[in-house]
Formats: sequence, structure tokens, C-alpha cells
Amino acid sequence: MENNSNIKWYKQSVTKLDRQKANNHKSFVIWFTGLSGSGKSTIANALEIELFKREVKTFCLDGDNVRHGLNKNLGFSDEDRRENIRRIAEVAKLIVDAGVVVLVSVISPFSEDRNEARKLLGNDEFFEVFVKCPLEVCEKRDPKGLYKKARAGHIKQFTGISQRYEQPTNPDLTIDTSKLTVNESVTTILSFLNKHLEIN
Ligand code: PPS
Repeated sequence: MENNSNIKWYKQSVTKLDRQKANNHKSFVIWFTGLSGSGKSTIANALEIELFKREVKTFCLDGDNVRHGLNKNLGFSDEDRRENIRRIAEVAKLIVDAGVVVLVSVISPFSEDRNEARKLLGNDEFFEVFVKCPLEVCEKRDPKGLYKKARAGHIKQFTGISQRYEQPTNPDLTIDTSKLTVNESVTTILSFLNKHLEIN
């Protein structure tokens, strides 16, 4: 690792609070974690539509999409997943600094990595939403045919099949997508978020 002692933080004049005030709302991360097929991306997308209608500045960071670019050199080993989450959390923090609400949807299977993301952002700017759905239901949905491939042994280290998913023990919110519709899920999240958007 390079010695970074010659790099100093440059304090910029326009602050996060200035940007939040200009946008008329606070900025933070809504971190959706859950199994493949649990509905993370669908709910984040539907939520973004509603926030957008309310003139909230938003941005979605989706695991699949980020893996096409910034994280294209990462696979699905424990180590690569950790680095995936670390980078996404750092990018999310930059976007929060820009005054924008960030919707992150990534499996993020390991508690330790999610906790690191929370530590980086801080409790006031990181809300973990557990997108809960039994493995059997995700497997039945199998929107991308990945469970079928994983069961056939064509995908190694597949979350829930051949790699662990550590359920959040203390999420800010749990959405059970085997019981709620997408609309109901979004309504629940919106009412949770309302109080967090206001600048006091
Ligand atoms: S992680 O665990 O947070 O690093 O994963 P993430 O960046 O969210 O990427 C998950 C998407 O990659 C596809 N995919 C796999 N998922 C899990 N395990 C394995 N081995 C795997 N290989 C490919 C899959 O489309 C995941 O997207 P979602 O939306 O979760 O289904």
C-alpha cells in the first residue's frame, strides 16, 4: 500500500448542508439488502419514481449495474463481495455529500460489510432495509434463471445456495415481499422516510 501521508483533505466552501438546503431535503442512503430475487431493485426503482414525483433528488446504485462498470473486475468470492460493498458505500457517501438520496440495492450478504457501510455513513445517513423473502419464494420467482443454474452447479458461490446470506439482526426497516405488494412496500418505506427527509 502506498504511503498517503502527503495527501491532505481539501475543505471545500460549499458544504453538504448547503446542498441539502438547496434541494430542500436531507440526504442519506437507503440500503436494500436481501437475496437475489427478493425484490430489491424492483422496490428501489418504484420508490425512486415516487420520490422523484415529490421532487426529491435521488440516485440508484444497483449491484448488477455497478458490476458492469466500476466493479467489473469483481466476482462473488467473500473478498470480492466485501470490496464490492466497500466501493459502493464510498460512492454512496460521495452522492450523499452532493445532497442526494441514494438508493442502494445489493445483496450485501455479510453483516460485517453492511456494518462497515453504516459506520462510513453514520447512523443518521444510513438506513438498512431488509428485503425479506424466503429462499423458496425467491427460487420460485427466479426472474433471471440464476437459481436454476446454481442448483445445476453452473454458478459457484450463489447466495442462499452455495454461499451464506447473513440476515440483518437490527435493520431500520423490514419489508416482507412474500406478503406485501410493490405498492405496499413503497408506501411503508415512504412513511418511514418522511420524517428523515426534513431539514430541521
Ligand atoms: S453482492 O453479494 O452484494 O456483492 O452482490 P451484488 O453486487 O448485489 O450482485 C448480485 C447480482 O449478481 C448476479 N449474480 C449473483 N448473485 C449472487 N451470487 C452469485 N454467485 C451471482 N452471480 C451473479 C445476480 O443477478 C444478482 O442480482 P440480484 O438483483 O440480487 O438478483
